[in-house]
Amino acid sequence: MKQTAYTKKVGLLSIVGAVLMTGVPSPAAEDPVSRRQADMKAMAAAAKTISGMFKDPAAYKASEFKWAADTIRDKSGSVLSAHFGSEADSRQSKAGPNILKERERFDRIANDLGDYAVALDAAAQNNPGPMSASMRMKPGEAMGGGPLGTHVRDEQELLAMPAEHAFHLMLQTCTTCHAKFRME
Ligand code: HEC
Repeated sequence: MKQTAYTKKVGLLSIVGAVLMTGVPSPAAEDPVSRRQADMKAMAAAAKTISGMFKDPAAYKASEFKWAADTIRDKSGSVLSAHFGSEADSRQSKAGPNILKERERFDRIANDLGDYAVALDAAAQNNPGPMSASMRMKPGEAMGGGPLGTHVRDEQELLAMPAEHAFHLMLQTCTTCHAKFRME
């Protein structure tokens, strides 16, 4: 494929991103458990980046916000599910044995995570300058998505809510999956 300036830039960004997120390569980086744990750590770092910008809106940079959202988007959904495709048990893993038995629930939570990340990506694209008031939650705005918490029912609703709200629901998605499928 002919490299346009755009694809060159994107390629460079993802290389820099991979280096930043992976850090020092560990000798065990090849096994499935280490790989999925590394992805989880990368998502945690991305979530921290986004959280920092909501805490200090002056630190908001659309490109960094978007990159963090895309990191989570790219590691959610079927990518996340595939990390837990078989019983790759090891002593280092905290994955619950119930994942395979409750596959649909696990996959649905993994997909929800991706939906929130897509909403955050859209917010960054719609707010290239400073963080707008429309990205922030209003004081007293109701949180949550019904009695079961976090399941996304309506994509329009998701894109219409303030990005900060979508971000909180995203973090609840991490917590929901961990509570159910990660062993302490
Ligand atoms: C669909 C389920 C699911 C979702 C969603 C999910 N996780 Fe996880 N996460 C797991 C499981 C299972 C493990 C344990 C993996 C293992 O040890 O093999 C884990 C482990 C982790 C770890 C520990 C990694 C390590 O080095 O041991 C971190 C950090 C983490 N998750 C962060 C996140 C963050 C942040 C999010 C949301 C942005 C998230 N996770 C969303 C299932 C999920």
